[in-house]
Amino acid sequence: MNDKERVAHHAAQQIKDGMLVGLGTGSTANYFIEELARRSHEGLHIKVVASSVVSAIKAQSLNLPVLGFDTIQQLDVYVDGADEVSADFDLLKGRGFDLVREKILARAADQFWVLIDPSKRVDRIGANYAIPVEVMPFAWQMVKRNLESLGGVGDLRQTANKDGLVISSYGSVVLDMVFDAALDTKTLNDLLSNTPGVVEHGIFCNLASVVLCVADGQVVEQKVG
Ligand code: A5P
Repeated sequence: MNDKERVAHHAAQQIKDGMLVGLGTGSTANYFIEELARRSHEGLHIKVVASSVVSAIKAQSLNLPVLGFDTIQQLDVYVDGADEVSADFDLLKGRGFDLVREKILARAADQFWVLIDPSKRVDRIGANYAIPVEVMPFAWQMVKRNLESLGGVGDLRQTANKDGLVISSYGSVVLDMVFDAALDTKTLNDLLSNTPGVVEHGIFCNLASVVLCVADGQVVEQKVG
């Protein structure tokens, strides 16, 4: 079992009967969904809501009861991976680019459990990856210019084989932008959130409740706040 799988299994063991569980997106979230489905088949009664089309399809294929996103107001716990986690528990997410539903679920949940392996820990958000910024397609040039005026450098995200642009589940394009390290995360978070045409971005401040990571083969839970 690798570290992502170990931490995902540990999280799935903490889910209790009757919970409404938000499903993240990505390889760690996939391990969680699989283990949750296994427990559900053994008799655990839960309902789930998915942060992406791909996670909804996976959950449905494993016979988990998936609620429509637009039918819920609140959930017990949202469980997802992250690309980076800073010492003060700010997160970077969005390599899977479905940021909008991820952040809505993180905010609507009573708790947000973040599942990582040690490689995700960083000194500052943006240390390893560009910041994904989901943008209304017709506004991308104006948004890009705005972000460049904040010192950002980057461009539209292309598909893996570079024959087109990545489009989110809701039709947005993604600007992957690198900013000066001197710009602190919370300031950058606010600047991006206040830029017209930005649908959502990958900095998640003050949202994590618990960070679960593996150290020496054991899962360690860090409660935030
Ligand atoms: C999805 O959009 C992302 O935020 C993922 O949660 C993040 O990229 C972590 O992915 P892995 O679990 O695959 O490392």
